[in-house]
Parts: sequence; structure tokens; C-alpha cells
Amino acid sequence: MIQGMLFSSPSEPSGASAPTAAGERAATLRSAIAAHDHRYYVLDAPTVSDAEYDALYRELQQLEAQHPELITPDSPTQRVGGRPLPEFPAVRHTVPMLSIRTETDTEASGARTFDARVRRELGLTESDPPIAYLAELKFDGLAVSLRYEAGVLVQGATRGDGETGEDITQNIRTVRAIPLRLNSGDAPPPAMIEIRGEVYMRRADFERLNDRQRAAGEKTFVNPRNSAAGSLRQLDSNITAKRPLSFFAYGLGEVTGWKLPETHGEVLDALERFGLPVDKHRRRVLGAEELIAFHQKIAELRDALPFDIDGVVYKADSLALQQRLGFVTREPRWAVAHKYPAQEQFTTVQHIDVQVGRTGRLTPVAKLAPVFVGGVTVTNATLHNEDEIRRKDVRIGDTVIVRRAGDVIPEIVAVVAERRPEDACAFEMPRQCPVCGSAVIREEGEVDAYCSGELFCPSQRKQALLHFAGRRAMDIEGLGDKIIEQLVDKAMVQSAADLYRLTQNDFAGLDRMAEKSAANLCAALEKSKTTTLDRFIFALGVRHVGEATARDLARHFGSLEALMNADHDALTGISEIGGVMAESILSFFSEPRNRNVIAALRTAGIHWPEVAAAATGPLTGLTFVLTGTLPTMSRDEADRRIVDAGGKVTGSVSKKTSYVLAGDAPGSTLAKAQALRIPVLDEAALLHMIEQPVSKNAQATS
Ligand code: IVH
Repeated sequence: MIQGMLFSSPSEPSGASAPTAAGERAATLRSAIAAHDHRYYVLDAPTVSDAEYDALYRELQQLEAQHPELITPDSPTQRVGGRPLPEFPAVRHTVPMLSIRTETDTEASGARTFDARVRRELGLTESDPPIAYLAELKFDGLAVSLRYEAGVLVQGATRGDGETGEDITQNIRTVRAIPLRLNSGDAPPPAMIEIRGEVYMRRADFERLNDRQRAAGEKTFVNPRNSAAGSLRQLDSNITAKRPLSFFAYGLGEVTGWKLPETHGEVLDALERFGLPVDKHRRRVLGAEELIAFHQKIAELRDALPFDIDGVVYKADSLALQQRLGFVTREPRWAVAHKYPAQEQFTTVQHIDVQVGRTGRLTPVAKLAPVFVGGVTVTNATLHNEDEIRRKDVRIGDTVIVRRAGDVIPEIVAVVAERRPEDACAFEMPRQCPVCGSAVIREEGEVDAYCSGELFCPSQRKQALLHFAGRRAMDIEGLGDKIIEQLVDKAMVQSAADLYRLTQNDFAGLDRMAEKSAANLCAALEKSKTTTLDRFIFALGVRHVGEATARDLARHFGSLEALMNADHDALTGISEIGGVMAESILSFFSEPRNRNVIAALRTAGIHWPEVAAAATGPLTGLTFVLTGTLPTMSRDEADRRIVDAGGKVTGSVSKKTSYVLAGDAPGSTLAKAQALRIPVLDEAALLHMIEQPVSKNAQATS
């Protein structure tokens, strides 16, 4: 609707010459840009491209430059631009910004304690109906209060000590999710309304900001919360404007000239209609049991949220009940925060170990004083490589912040510089492999250091065997790290081929190995002898050859011999194989030791059905992506027909895609293909392409 009025072509009279028309145009542009901002920053559902948006913005800027009298405080061009402040003026909160009591009890009891307390305060008995609560997320950012007068944002303030905060209006105005004017529809806006909420930073925005800071050689931030806090505290709002801040509203302060609804839930709905971002996970629930269910559901969602939360908040939904419950000192009786285990904790680095992986890569690992974080006790954190240690400047003895979110491997976020002991000791990458003593090599321009011992190194051997036996490789069930560890340490196994020489007796002699498990292991080894070529190639553990590449190689060459005899050109002739990968494959197969192990494995009886090498045909050299339901063929069938005709099928559209084969109800693939101008075929057109040579012949003979 708004758009229809907007996209006047540049040749159309913009009305800039007549002040009233210019004024109208400026107002139209202002509300259109505000609506686009709302769709982009609040609803996460933009309806125009960046270029279209920029065009509107520029037009408004030009109009305002020609007619400065048209500039209004709520104009989107006025979000940035104030001079740096010498300091933030103080702001007194007429309605104090309170904190909420935190229920630290775990799981169910926290919600029950809160509900029981509320019921007791209200003099309710068991026969009374359950209380309605509004359950919300507890956002991990900074509390702010936004003051709108007659619908226009006039002030933004921090919480401070709850009574007096700092005036950060200039900075608040740069947060694009915060409307400069409330959208009250046809109704008049509240005479004055203070909206309380949390300024925060999304995790992805935080990562991008840190990348940018790093690239510019500037200081990085420890976590999204600190990053949001640091950004809001800038005296120069031009800096804040460059920080990707977000906002969620969760309550009210002082309000005049607006009829309050009856419940907190309705207040949040009203704020949402005003155009403020209000988190969609909020739920009205009844009684303690539903609070518990909410707590659990959000705990499961926590890691998948795009922003950090540190818990959930329960609030009595009825504003009348809130009033009756009142406050104890500085905390309301009607609300409680129920926290989740912290995902960050302080601990100390006791020493730094070096682990040797399958490919010989050395990974430094920090050994930490045990600390409970993210719901488990953590004693190790990977430090990735030497450069990473230098970048974070982690030293042995340091106090550090460790983070563990979800199932992600714990990591050291930052060092607490003030707590560095005098004898803190910098890490040096060893020159010799800590496991086998071979030389450590770090190639120029590479971040990783490698042990040069290859399969002489017991650690590499163990990892290589573990990889060989893995579920997606030879799938030898029951052959795990504990057993491999013993087999290598007792020198029972040098290479993968030796595994197949072991007997049940050999296994039975190992620690913690029952008779039955030994028999099972023998059976699993026997079973693994029948495999597929791609699994076997993957199992060999050639550097850079993952599962997908192993599949490409198997499909392309059809036999192990053909792969082993392939030269550089033959390898790089496959579109997925680059120079580095080709070199790695060539060097692996030129190594006599590797050839011997392969021969021994085949002698041991490892075999696979021969696969036909990729066909050549009318579709040779063409890459297809399938989307939607085809009229007669299943996807598998279409896939097979394309491959049989020499073509290739990949999962997603890129510039390299030759055609998209689209059926009914195609996904976003189709839109992407159109955007990249990749030709789209239907089933009939594909069949025609496959049969083309036949029809050509038919024509020739007729
Ligand atoms: S309500 C009177 N709701 O948690 C109740 N606070 O101590 C006032 N917070 O720093 C707070 N998410 O900024 C409320 N959904 C939410 C919240 C929330 C985060 C923060 C708030 C304050 C602290 C409460």
C-alpha cells in the first residue's frame, strides 16, 4: 500500500519545488522508511531490497538538505549525527527501575517456590484456581527506559542504580529496532509512556562485529552482553550507530494519558502494536506446573536462539494482582527470574597440553581447574593452534573465562589480564612431537603445526585406526578408542591391515574385554570386510579426502586401481577436486607403505562390488539441481537418469549449476536459480535433452 505511492520514477515531478508537496513527500518517505525499518529490524521480514531502501533514504536526505525546515526529530535521517558528549547527563526515574528476585533453585522447585509464595501472599488456598502468569525470556543485555511523549521518542536512559540512570538518548536513537515514533494507528498516542526493555546484541551480529574489530586491529569483545554494554556507553553516538544493537520491550515505567489494559500480556501486545520489538516466546500459563514446562521448553531452545538469555522470567499476568502483591524493598513480589546454569565461568589454566591428531596436527589444549559451566564440569578447552593462543594471549597460570554453550566444545573466551600472576608462563609449540619425538613442522603461511612421524607416531596411528573403524568408514562396531589404545601400546597392531590378523584370543587378553565382546569384535571385523569403494577410500584417511570427496572419487574412477593410477590431470579433471586435494591423493598413493597396507587389506579379504565408472553421455559436463515434485519420475529416478547420461546432481544452486530441474512446489532453490539466471527445466525438457542424440539419429535416418 505504502509502496504504491513510493516508487515514483525519477522523472516524475517529486514536488520538491513546491514546499507543501515537498513536505508531503518527506512525510510519506519518513513513514515508509519507518515501516521498512519495522519490517526489517522488528518483524525480520523485509519487503524491499537494500537498494530500494537506500533509494528512499537518499531521496529523503536530499529533500531535507533542500528544505531543512522539513527535518523532524523522528525523521530516520536523524538517528545519527549528534556531537560526542562530554559525559552523560543524569536522569531520575520517577518510577524506579527495579531488579527482580532470582530463583536459583533448579528446575521444578524454583517455579513451585515462587507460585507458593504468591498464593500465600494473596491468602489463597488449595481449592482456589491456579494463578495466570506471563512467562518471558530473560534477555542478557542492558536494561533501558525509553520515554515517548505524544508518541515521539524523547529520551533513552540506562537503569543506573534504579533511581538515577544516565541519559543515553543519542545512542538509543541509533538502534534501528527502536521506533522514533510510536504507531498508534488512528488512536492518539499515549500522552507520555516509558517503555522498559533490554538492549542486546544478537550472537551472529556480535561475531561479525568482532571480526570487523579484529580486521581493523581494534579490541574485540568478550561476549554479546559486554559488546552491547560497551556500545551503549559510547559518548560518541556515531560509534554506537555502527554497532548492531537490538532491543526487546518487556514492561512499563511511568504512563500518563493512556488507559492501561488489565494484564501484562495485553500491555506487551499493545507495545508490539506500537511497533516495538517484543519477543515472541512469551506465553500466558496457569500455575506452577505450566511454569515448569515453559522453563524446560526454553532450556531446550536456548542454544538455538539467535541471542543469549540467562533464564526465564515469570510475572503475575493481572496488573491488579501485581498491585496487590506490591514490593519487598527493591523487588516486586509478583515477578521472579529463574536462571539457567551460566554458560561462562572463571577458572585458571593449569597447563597447556599438546594433542596429536590423525593427520599429525598438533592441537594445544588448556588443562583447567575443574569448573561447572553450561551444566557440566569442564577440565579441558581447545586452544586450536599457536596463533590462537597468541591472539588471546593465554598463558599458563592465567585466570580465564571459559564458555560452554550446548554441546559445543568448551572454549576460552578471554584472559582476565588483571589477574595474571607474575610467574604466568607463555606457551611454546614443542619442536618435537610430544608423543613420538619426531620433528614438528609448520609450513610457511600455515596456522597448524604437524608431527612429521606419520604412522610411526603412535598417536597418529591410533587416530588413523579410529578413523578407519569409524561408523562412516569401515564401520567396525565395538572397536573404540580404549581398545585401539591398548592394541597400539602393546604393539599388536601397526597398520589397519593388522586388525584383520587378530584372533578372538588376542582380544580376550585385553583389559576390560569380556569373552562375549571379543567374539562380537571378531564378528564385526569379519562383517566389515564387505564394504563399498567409497567407504574404503574414506577409511584410508587421505588428508583432505572427506566422505563426499571419497564418493566423488569412487563414482568417477569406478575402481581402486584406476584411482591409484590416476595422475594430477585425471584428478583435477573432476570438478570437485582442486590442486591441493589432488597433491594429497597423489602423495598418499605414491607412498609404498600405504600401497603395502592396501594390498594387505585386500589379501585379508576386504572387498566391494565394482561400481561402473561415471557414464559419459549427452549430459556430460552438466550439473543439475533438483527441486519440487516431478510429474512422473521420483527424485531418485531423475538423479539416476541424469548420472546415467553423464551429468551430475548437486544439492544447492551456485554459479556452477548448469540447469535447475523444477517440479511442483519448488523450494527457494527456484528463486535462487532465477536470481542467478540459471536456466530452469521441467521433466519433459530434461528427457528431451537425454534423448536428443537419439532423435537426431532418427532424423538422420528418416
Ligand atoms: S522485568 C520489575 N523482564 O533482568 C521487573 N526483566 O533484575 C523489572 N531482564 O536488569 C524487570 N529480561 O533488564 C524483566 N523479560 C524480562 C527481562 C528482564 C531481562 C533484566 C532486566 C534487569 C534484570 C532484572
